[in-house]
Amino acid sequence: MDIFSVENKHIVITGASSGFGHHFAGVLAARGARVVLGARRTEKVQARVDELNAAGGQARGVALDVNDAASVDAFLAAAEDAFGPIDVVINNAGVEAGAKTYLTIDESDWDYVLDTNLKAPWFMGKRYTERVIASGQGGGNIVNIASITAYRTIKGQFPYAVSKAAMVKATEVMALEAARYGIRVNALAPGYILTDVSRTLLESERSQTFVKGIPMRRYGEFEDLDGALLLLTSDASRWMTGSTIVVDGGHICGEL
Ligand SMILES: NC(=O)c1ccc[n+]([C@@H]2O[C@H](COP(=O)([O-])OP(=O)(O)OC[C@H]3O[C@@H](n4cnc5c(N)ncnc54)[C@H](OP(=O)(O)O)[C@@H]3O)[C@@H](O)[C@H]2O)c1
Repeated sequence: MDIFSVENKHIVITGASSGFGHHFAGVLAARGARVVLGARRTEKVQARVDELNAAGGQARGVALDVNDAASVDAFLAAAEDAFGPIDVVINNAGVEAGAKTYLTIDESDWDYVLDTNLKAPWFMGKRYTERVIASGQGGGNIVNIASITAYRTIKGQFPYAVSKAAMVKATEVMALEAARYGIRVNALAPGYILTDVSRTLLESERSQTFVKGIPMRRYGEFEDLDGALLLLTSDASRWMTGSTIVVDGGHICGEL
């Protein structure tokens, strides 16, 4: 028996129109999971869904704005209509505010980043838990996508780093409170991988020196996250809750 199997698991992924979410959907669908992809750019979501279904997967796309309560409710309802009770929610949608410090962000930057990266995963988790309790399905699983900025400091990613550090704490507290409903809550904290979220830094002049701070001397690739993704979404992690797994080529233990 493959303890990392996700076959037939119903897994919903926020922010699946690009980057990690787009990749995660492919990894999980290829292993037999039934996946529901949500994001605002519905044409990108639909293109990915078509690709996954053409490859023999079971995928659906649903418009989702994680900052809109009605949209979150509609997303969860549409996912259940498609594939029944949801086994796993991956809170992956996230944004950054550009290369700004605590001094140069304004209130709208703060709200934009904190609402999407912190408030929305909490709200999604709350609504999901309510549905798990109401349906009597007997359990569930939430995977939050955090970041190594939760653990180390870097100039110019102020609200982003704050949101991810708080997400790690939210993961722990939610794990504590959700256990009685049979729901596990864990997080994955990736290091730097080139996507729209990391582009400002990774395509800057600073990038060549920055990479030298990574003990394994390279930025990540999407596939580097697959092991942790399959661990957290499968029953292989059945006695894990409140944990955050760092996958970063050793970046957070790079020498000072
Ligand atoms: N790349 C890295 O180095 C890195 C490292 C650590 C952690 N992360 C985290 O990984 C996650 C995915 O980011 P990424 O790197 O893959 O960047 P990305 O390609 O920009 O993906 C971000 C996703 O979030 C979605 N999103 C943003 N706001 C949303 C909203 N209001 N409602 C629904 N979806 C929304 C976007 O979709 P739409 O615009 O279509 O809505 C997009 O699909 C983020 O939480 C990020 O913080 C990234």
